[in-house]
Amino acid sequence: MPDGRPFYITTPIYYVNDKPHIGHAYTTLACDVMARFMRLDGRRVHFLTGTDEHGQKVEKSAAAAGLAPLEFCDQVSEHFRELARALNVSNDDFIRTTEKRHIESCQALWQRLVERGEIYLGSYAGWYSVRDETFYTEGDLVDGKAPTGAPVEWVEEPSYFFRLSAWGDRLLEFYDKNPGFIGPDSRRNEVVSFVKSGLRDLSVSRTSFRWGVPVPNDPAHVMYVWLDALTNYITALGYPDMESEAYKTFWPADFHVVGKDIVRFHAVYWPAFLMAAELDPPKAVFAHGWWTNEGQKISKSLGNTIDPFDLIETYGLDQTRYFLLREVPFGQDGDFSQKAMINRINADLANNLGNLMQRVLSQVQKNCGAAMPALGALTAEDEALLGQARALLPSLRTAMEKYELHQALAQIWAVSDAANLYIDQQAPWTLKKTDMVRMATVLGVLVEVIRILGILVQPVMPASGAKILDQLALPADARDFAAIERSPIAAGTPLPAPQGVFPRIETPKA
Ligand code: MSP
Repeated sequence: MPDGRPFYITTPIYYVNDKPHIGHAYTTLACDVMARFMRLDGRRVHFLTGTDEHGQKVEKSAAAAGLAPLEFCDQVSEHFRELARALNVSNDDFIRTTEKRHIESCQALWQRLVERGEIYLGSYAGWYSVRDETFYTEGDLVDGKAPTGAPVEWVEEPSYFFRLSAWGDRLLEFYDKNPGFIGPDSRRNEVVSFVKSGLRDLSVSRTSFRWGVPVPNDPAHVMYVWLDALTNYITALGYPDMESEAYKTFWPADFHVVGKDIVRFHAVYWPAFLMAAELDPPKAVFAHGWWTNEGQKISKSLGNTIDPFDLIETYGLDQTRYFLLREVPFGQDGDFSQKAMINRINADLANNLGNLMQRVLSQVQKNCGAAMPALGALTAEDEALLGQARALLPSLRTAMEKYELHQALAQIWAVSDAANLYIDQQAPWTLKKTDMVRMATVLGVLVEVIRILGILVQPVMPASGAKILDQLALPADARDFAAIERSPIAAGTPLPAPQGVFPRIETPKA
């Protein structure tokens, strides 16, 4: 039910050592679809994305580019903003960890942890991977490398530590009491067994480089980049001002969306930092899988990264958005292939939903005086199709609560399938010769179904959804989910000439 309840959703903040790629686009799009869905459903949404700009990895990339770190960050961060714009992402804020608001927030959180005795000075000796920005023990290494395959270096330096070892039992209790905290289940099991295996105190400062948030009262240290980065989620709500409207409204976050590689940071370290600071942990962390490219792992060294700007250029924006979210069950790994992309665009968009609209709206134009047809008495078949379309919203809500974005889309398309079948069976082109009232009813039922589908595809395909609704002459205030029940199209409403929304991609014959 639309109720104005707050909904705070975040993407990870992206490292600025690299150009945006399909992985970044995917995480951001998944969040965008959820944010748009919740907004259309009457929730008060705050959607955050941004860039992670400190740490050794970024410092090294800046040096390699011959730029001062901040100058480098300014340039690369801008590419991520461009990506969000190009993807038509509806984020409410874009945070950069080099901003003053964030540095103050990190330092305040640090102080709070110090005051509660959760941080102490010691010294670190162990392995560190700059690529992963992660500490590893001897036992973690595989053939002298990080378990991720990243190179490691030996680090020995004075360091502040966070008393993570003291938080194991409280974390396990927290997971127990909040079964929905980590999804999918496979990731939850991974995290629980990691915590059960025993936690060691975590090194949270570095002295061997400078590019980070200075530790309060000890400027020889900069904060560990993950403590800095995770804090962005509360900085954006005004922390340390916990009386701010945004903080009071939106914290704890409803949903941190992350890739499967960074679950531990979000589901172990982050709630431990927050609980240690006596702040509420987020409500849920959900990890999606990774994309491969035509069956191969994506890596810069293989030169097979997928540029999201190219995808938009080649296939179209809404087509790309639809493909990425429909093709792979959210939470599992998936493969990008040109064939699969073209297949989805042609089968689901052009031949299915696109064709349905074209068939219905062109007949309405020609045979119903270009206006919304009046419904006569409804048959069982009419009622069945309308019932299926009207039942969609509640079942999409359930799918979204379970993060089953692909399922939500499959359900929408099942109704489009049913409508295509219905038009074939009812054959309004034949009724035209025998029973104009029945023909009008059949087309009226179909326009109503298209209206519902048009409203419900908006989260995944905002521009195409709008084009569909334009063709039904729906005013702007009749496009949210509540309008499905509230504002059916009145009989006789003039409808504009139909235009194709989903072009087919022609492939050369083999
Ligand atoms: N800066 C950290 C996050 C800090 S959040 C407080 C980081 N940044 S990242 O730029 O390296 O990665 C961002 C996201 O992209 C991660 O969620 C990661 O899982 C995702 N992906 C990177 N490559 C990917 C694929 N090939 N496929 C899908 N997502 C992938 O980690």
